[in-house]
Amino acid sequence: MKFSRVHITFCAILLTALSVNAQTSFKPQNQLLNTFKKNFKDANAQYKLLAKQIGPQEFPKTYHPDTKKQENSNSGWWCSGFYPGSLLYLYEQNHDEQLLTEANRILGVLAKEQYNKNTHDLGFMMYCSFGNANRTEPKPEYKQILINSAKSLSTRFNPTIGCIKSWDSKNPSDYLVIIDNMMNLELLFWATRETGDSSYYKIAVTHANTTIKNHYRPDYSSYHVINYDAQTGAVKEKKTAQGFANESAWARGQAWGLYGFTVMYRETKDKKYLDQAQNIARFILTNPNPNQPADKIPYWDYNATNIPNALKDASAAAITASALLELCKYADNNKGQEYFNTAETILKTLSSPAYKAPLGTNGGFILEHSVGHFPAGTEIDVPLTYADYYFIEAMKRYDEFVTNK
Ligand code: GLY
Repeated sequence: MKFSRVHITFCAILLTALSVNAQTSFKPQNQLLNTFKKNFKDANAQYKLLAKQIGPQEFPKTYHPDTKKQENSNSGWWCSGFYPGSLLYLYEQNHDEQLLTEANRILGVLAKEQYNKNTHDLGFMMYCSFGNANRTEPKPEYKQILINSAKSLSTRFNPTIGCIKSWDSKNPSDYLVIIDNMMNLELLFWATRETGDSSYYKIAVTHANTTIKNHYRPDYSSYHVINYDAQTGAVKEKKTAQGFANESAWARGQAWGLYGFTVMYRETKDKKYLDQAQNIARFILTNPNPNQPADKIPYWDYNATNIPNALKDASAAAITASALLELCKYADNNKGQEYFNTAETILKTLSSPAYKAPLGTNGGFILEHSVGHFPAGTEIDVPLTYADYYFIEAMKRYDEFVTNK
């Protein structure tokens, strides 16, 4: 049977139409888009205030509403990339040169971390900052900083374990890997694309596969920390550091995993990562009330004992919303719609006075009510830079459904 050119063209159009996923049917709500427009403007004003709270070499960390005290960090703190990243996202929305100037200034302070081999957090630190800078205005110096950062991060990979080491330990036989580490892999994929060196890609894939094997429980909730035997790679302990208990589901850990495996699917198109992300989404979305509040802002740990009086974690919610707004594009129509709707609910709630700080308050941060490290008694019910960063990113992702960019 012969196909005419018309036939072939028709089939090609049909296939293209079928392969465009549910994203074409996701309809952003006008009212919410208007809310986000105002949020971006408010965030712009807040970040000008935030910029006034830091010294020349400092990065904002949090603000304590009870004592009205600002807490800042140096560039080595794992969150140092979120402040420049948020400034750059906001500049894209509002075109306020003052924010771009501040972003460029603080990127200069951060740049030295490209050589930091003592942290697994380089993905957060350098990709959320220089990654966004290079995305919006590609420059050879940004690329070099990102490549050096990927090189530094790769030095923490151990092929016997099959993971990048998260935390150093005093005990030389410990090899600690935390679920958060999934978020540092995006930098490695970028580095392989940029340099053609596949070793970064292979490290990312191996790390993700080891994480699927050892970090996840049968219900697709995640342990926070796996301690491997540094010599043999055997699992020694499965435990928590920032969660309620070793066997609990720490909310932000679930969000990091969801986001991380969604990126894994984007970068590899390997369906096992899509399945993993969707299984994590199921755990998050179907957790029974009261563990899953109607406003979709999770308690800081799904198993905290004092639910429904436990604290909520806006940061986990913001990360989840941003991840779902990507995952919905890869999922089948029904699931995709559920992810999109959940993200909408989260973002509506975060935009409400229950979470979004009044202008001129909150030390300049956008969102209130996140939980950093409950067991350590630090950063409890406070604003955090990464809650703001992923909130802005999620709103940007939602906006992009209007034009299907
Ligand atoms: N360890 C990173 C976090 O607190 O999520």
